[in-house]
Amino acid sequence: MLHQSSDGPHSPKSPLKKPLSRRSYSRTLAKLSILALVSIFLVAYGRGLIWLKADTPALDPQEVNILQSLCNLRPDNPRIHEDNSIDTLQELIKPIHLLPEVSPDTTIPADTWKDLPTKGVLYMIVQNSKLYSAREAIRSIEDRFNHKYHYPWVLLNSQHFTADFRKYASMATKAPIYFGKIDPDTWSYPPFIDVARAERNMGVLGGTNLYKGGSLSFRQEARYHAGLFFHHTLFQNVDYVWRVESDSQYTCDLVDFDPFKEMKENNRTIGFALTSKDVPRAILGLWKVTRAFIDDYAQTVVSPDESIMPWIVDRRGEYNTCHMVSSFEVVDLAFYRSPSYQRYFEYLDRSGGFFYGRWGDGPVKSIAAAMFLKRDQIQYFKNVGYSHGMFSHCPFQENYSEHCSCSLDETFDFKDNSCTVDLLNLVNRTIIHEMADYAKLVVDKNTSIKKRL
Ligand SMILES: *[C@@H]1O[C@H](CO)[C@@H](O)[C@H](O)[C@H]1NC(C)=O
Ligand SMILES: *[C@@H]1O[C@H](CO)[C@@H](O)[C@H](O)[C@H]1NC(C)=O
Ligand SMILES: *[C@@H]1O[C@H](CO)[C@@H](O)[C@H](O)[C@H]1NC(C)=O
Ligand SMILES: *[C@@H]1O[C@H](CO)[C@@H](O)[C@H](O)[C@H]1NC(C)=O
Repeated sequence: MLHQSSDGPHSPKSPLKKPLSRRSYSRTLAKLSILALVSIFLVAYGRGLIWLKADTPALDPQEVNILQSLCNLRPDNPRIHEDNSIDTLQELIKPIHLLPEVSPDTTIPADTWKDLPTKGVLYMIVQNSKLYSAREAIRSIEDRFNHKYHYPWVLLNSQHFTADFRKYASMATKAPIYFGKIDPDTWSYPPFIDVARAERNMGVLGGTNLYKGGSLSFRQEARYHAGLFFHHTLFQNVDYVWRVESDSQYTCDLVDFDPFKEMKENNRTIGFALTSKDVPRAILGLWKVTRAFIDDYAQTVVSPDESIMPWIVDRRGEYNTCHMVSSFEVVDLAFYRSPSYQRYFEYLDRSGGFFYGRWGDGPVKSIAAAMFLKRDQIQYFKNVGYSHGMFSHCPFQENYSEHCSCSLDETFDFKDNSCTVDLLNLVNRTIIHEMADYAKLVVDKNTSIKKRL
């Protein structure tokens, strides 16, 4: 029996502990306490080790960056030989720890287009600060069109794209996406510009209500779009570009419709969805320089009977400011790469008007299209629903609302500042009849629309 051998009032209940006197009991207690303390210490120390491991690696991230940069600087690193643009060289003479976390992309592998009908890219010029509107525009094109094709994206920036921008912009598409850096030589004032004069003029236009009248970055970007972007190495294997603006939206599903393929199959050179007039104050001097160019290079200019020149010239022979809105355009790059186009761009550029005035790339490209292209090289993307700021184009199809989220009432095509009907008059009159039929059917009561047709 367990209780049988108890030898005192405080006899322990277990026979095993029977030999323990009060003294040895407290000694054991003391040992146990030491053991417990040691265990607590060990656990705490172990945790401490984990904590130390997590927060203080052998090298801090900055040191890692510096070391990586040092490795990249080794002359036997192949990347350096591949990419010795002035931009990269400038980066190399910067303090090492200021090098970007991720170096910009410089080429698109040729096999990127192996399953696609054309070598097309979607391209956007955008700053890090516009991540969210860039993602919105990318998503809208992906949802409406590109999820079925995976045409690559090219994003260009005059600054380095941050790692975060690259990460979150990439997450908006499943297509390959490349992040390039604009060469500072193609972005800053060229040497022949009188900077004081440019800044004076910018101040004057900035004091008026002209949109972006005083903006240097508008001028840099317009000039880059007008004649420089396609020199970037990311475009070297590219045949067609679709320009995308960060705050634009595509409002219709392109059902079985690939704008790149459409361009190629119909031998088109430039495609648009919207046209507009410009503010004469913005393009001061543009037509004067253009006329001088036409005098000098008359033999390169297509006859007005075959071109859209009559669309842009008024009865007095002046430029009426009509142009294809270039924030959405699909273009065969062979056009911008052609000697005629480049000669015209250089002529304009040397006049300084991109900086002394506030010339947009839209008017420049439309004038070039009027000089160098035949009418059948112009593509009207009537079924591309597109919206950017005040501009909006909604297709004139009876069933457009099945595929679109735009409102025909807001469409810019019937507004006074649109030149689309006049352009279609030269390019394809059948479409005007389609527009008129649609207008009769759906908006019969709307006199502001009828007036335009
Ligand atoms: C496009 O051009 C090619 C080559 O010049 C020609 O064979 C083809 O018929 C043209 N296509 C159209 C639709 O005009
Ligand atoms: C619009 O409807 C017509 C006939 O109802 C159809 O042939 C055409 O494919 C439709 N268009 C689109 C874009 O769904
Ligand atoms: C003109 O537009 C109509 C209707 O969209 C189209 O069927 C026709 O092929 C076009 N013609 C030319 C020469 O592009
Ligand atoms: C008619 O169209 C104009 C713009 O084109 C729009 O502002 C107006 O609300 C429309 N009116 C009606 C009654 O639909």
